[in-house]
Amino acid sequence: MPKYQAVRGTKDILPAESARFQHLEAQARALFRRFGYEEIRTPTFESVDLFQRSLGETTDVVQKEMYVFEDRGGRKLALRPEGTAGVVRAFIEHHLSQTHPFCKLFYVGPMFRAERPQAGRYREFWQVGAEYFGNASPSADAELLLLVQTLFRALGLSDAHLKINSLGDQNCRPKYLDALTAHIKGLLPTLCEDCQRRAEKNPLRVLDCKVDGPKLVNVPTIDQFWCDDCRTHFGKVQHLLKRAGGAFDVVPRLVRGLDYYSRTVFEVTSSALGAQDALAAGGRYDKLVKELDGPDVPALGFAMGVERAIQALQAAQKPVPGPGLGALKVFVAALGEPASDRAFALLQELRQDPELAARAAVIEGGFFEKKLGAQLTIADRLVASHSVILGEEEIQRGEVTLRTMKTGAQERIPCKELVSRLLTLTPLA
Ligand code: HAM
Repeated sequence: MPKYQAVRGTKDILPAESARFQHLEAQARALFRRFGYEEIRTPTFESVDLFQRSLGETTDVVQKEMYVFEDRGGRKLALRPEGTAGVVRAFIEHHLSQTHPFCKLFYVGPMFRAERPQAGRYREFWQVGAEYFGNASPSADAELLLLVQTLFRALGLSDAHLKINSLGDQNCRPKYLDALTAHIKGLLPTLCEDCQRRAEKNPLRVLDCKVDGPKLVNVPTIDQFWCDDCRTHFGKVQHLLKRAGGAFDVVPRLVRGLDYYSRTVFEVTSSALGAQDALAAGGRYDKLVKELDGPDVPALGFAMGVERAIQALQAAQKPVPGPGLGALKVFVAALGEPASDRAFALLQELRQDPELAARAAVIEGGFFEKKLGAQLTIADRLVASHSVILGEEEIQRGEVTLRTMKTGAQERIPCKELVSRLLTLTPLA
């Protein structure tokens, strides 16, 4: 076993998997753009206080899962466990509500949580996420949910299942929490240690307990407590979703692991995943911007776990094209030492050719000190469809030899016709 290995809970994304990441990101970016979102990149670490205040002091993420450290200046920092807090901080810091009253931002980046690693759960993982500021209308909720559904459809994950709920607001949720707490009190001695702790500080989280689930079948649910405004808002979200053909289930026991949510919350799961079956999650957080000392701006958003989406795609055996697949790949080889300098120059010329660049052609080569046979073996290993061979004779005549790798057929063509000829070639399937 090598002495140095990736730290527990982290992993290397090797080229084959990286190609899947790129494909997925490219689809997400194209879709975000179509829905009017622009990219934001925020730092991977922030003041620890930002996460405590936004995600909630009593959440598992803040209590047990943050990578917290002190920098050399004694500042208390944390690696971001999620993207929303940093985006909200940036939204406030740069006064984006003034320049972008309806501000739609997306991000792609790594997040860090010191959770117990298992399949689909990492300590460093990637999220693709979006945040939408300034729109309190239920149509914004429906629009975001449709964006999420369109994303999973574009990725080919047709079994992605959308569950939605409303967590109420500051008017109705406290009444529900009282009723829930009273109900849980009776069960307290029979509940697990985690739930006993949560019952007092964060009773909603008890509903999420995997251990105590069966004991909680009769707990009151939030739908019995929604105030008129919350009920109307959620009703309208569902109505709009149905009209636009969105498929979903209302799950009144659905809660989230982060405290900033109000009203609509949702989760997308996949049966192709194991215990960690959440592909994406999100919801409305109308009070968070104000709570972080910003303007009173409503907001909502979601994030998708990239590793999990890729895992679900693999489980569904969806072919994910890598960026190189289907691209024209040409190998430049030299026959004999004297031709190698000219071959080296040709390699660079082809790489700089704008028409080949527009075709995303891959130009390989550079092993000119090897024998021609050895160079062509490398070309085969790199799955080049054609090789351009340059020997002294070719140089003298102003020609190159073009070899079709699959058949071994070779022909001489004038050097100045090389690019236009390469552009007519069909890449390997
Ligand atoms: P979250 O539910 O904590 O929400 O995470 C969103 C998604 O990130 C999950 O559904 C899952 O796919 C992925 N994920 C979470 N933890 C891990 C892990 N340890 N390993 C691999 N994947 C993981 C949020 O983060 C919110 N910021 C979403 C949001 C945006 N809400 C409003 N705006």
